[in-house]
Amino acid sequence: VASRILVTGGAGYIGSHTAKLLRLEGIEPVVYDNLTTGNRSAVRWGPFVQGDILDGRHLIEVIEAHQPDAVIHFAASAYVGESVADPAKYYNNNVRGTLSLLDACRQTGVDKVIFSSSCATYGVPAVLPIDEATPQAPINPYGKTKLVAEHMLADYAAAFALNYVSLRYFNACGADPEGDLGEWHDPETHLIPRALMAAAGRIPHLEIFGEDYDTPDGTCVRDYIHVADLASAHVLAYRHLAKGGGNVALNLGTGRGFSIKEVLRTIGEITGHDVPVVFRRRRAGDPPALYADAGLACRTLGFLPRYSDLETIVRTAAPFFGLEVRS
Ligand code: UFG
Repeated sequence: VASRILVTGGAGYIGSHTAKLLRLEGIEPVVYDNLTTGNRSAVRWGPFVQGDILDGRHLIEVIEAHQPDAVIHFAASAYVGESVADPAKYYNNNVRGTLSLLDACRQTGVDKVIFSSSCATYGVPAVLPIDEATPQAPINPYGKTKLVAEHMLADYAAAFALNYVSLRYFNACGADPEGDLGEWHDPETHLIPRALMAAAGRIPHLEIFGEDYDTPDGTCVRDYIHVADLASAHVLAYRHLAKGGGNVALNLGTGRGFSIKEVLRTIGEITGHDVPVVFRRRRAGDPPALYADAGLACRTLGFLPRYSDLETIVRTAAPFFGLEVRS
C-alpha cells in the first residue's frame, strides 16, 4: 500500500499546494477541512472529507477509515489582526483544535505529526537573523496560540509515542509554478497579493504601513518563502519522521530579507505595472525586520528553497491577478 497522509486544512493556501506535491511524490493526501477559509476546488489530489478539527469523534472515524501514516496539520486561523480582536477564535481553533487532533492521533496510533508553526512565535527578536534558539516571545494571540501548540507537541512527544516536526514559516507567498493553485485569502491582507491587486487596478492603491522604520529604506523587511518550497519542506519533514528522525522545530525561510519597496520594485519590473501606493501609519504589532537563519532546516531535512527568489515569486503569483509577466 502506498503511504497516505491526513492533511488538515488541505483546502487552504499552503495545504493545497502541499497536497499536490504529496500526490506527485506517490503519497495520497486525505484532506480534512471545514471549508470556512479553504476552497473545495483546491482539493484535487486525493479524497476530501469535510469536517472540523474540533470534532474529535469525526477525526477518529476518518483516521480509522483511511489509516494515514502521518498527519500534516495546517488547519488554523491565521490573521494576526483578527487574533487581537477575537482571541477566543484563535484559542479555540489553534489550541483546542490542535489538542483535539493530537488526542485523535493518540487514540488511533498515528505517531507522526508535521505542524504549521510561524515566525510569529518569535515576536520582535532582539537579534537577526532568527535561528531556532531565538527566544519565542510572541506579541499577538495568533503567535501565542502557535507557540502553545508547539509546546503541546513537545509534551505529547515526551509522554506518548509521537514524533513531530514543527515548521516555522516566514512569509509564505507565490503560487503553484504550474498554475494549478493560487492564493485566495478573503479578506486578503498580505503584502504581495495586495500589491498585485493594486498593480492590476483591482484596488485603487496599496497602503504601505510605515516608511519610518529603522531599516535601509524605512519600510519593513521580511523573508519571503515560496509556497512550493514550503510544500517541499513538508514532504521532507515526513521523510525525516518516516526514517526515524527526531523531534525538531525548524525555520522555513530563505535567510534573506527584502523591504516592501524592494518587493514593489520587482513587481514593477516583472509585470510592467507600477504599484500605486499611499503611505499610512505603522500597523500595530509589525516588527521592523524579520528574517531567518535557514541553516537548520537545510542540515536536518536537506531543505533548499528553489522558487523563493522575488522574481519567481512574482512570476508565479501575478497571473492569478490577471497580470501578464514579461519574458
Ligand atoms: N503590508 C503593507 N500593506 C499591506 C499589507 C502588508 O504595508 O497592504 C506590510 C506589513 O505592514 C508588513 C509587510 O507588508 O510590514 C508584510 O505583511 P504581511 O501582512 O504580508 O505579512 P506579516 O509579515 O504581517 O506576516 C505575519 C506573520 C506570519 C503570519 C502572517 C499571518 O509574520 O507568521 O502574518 O497572516 F503567518
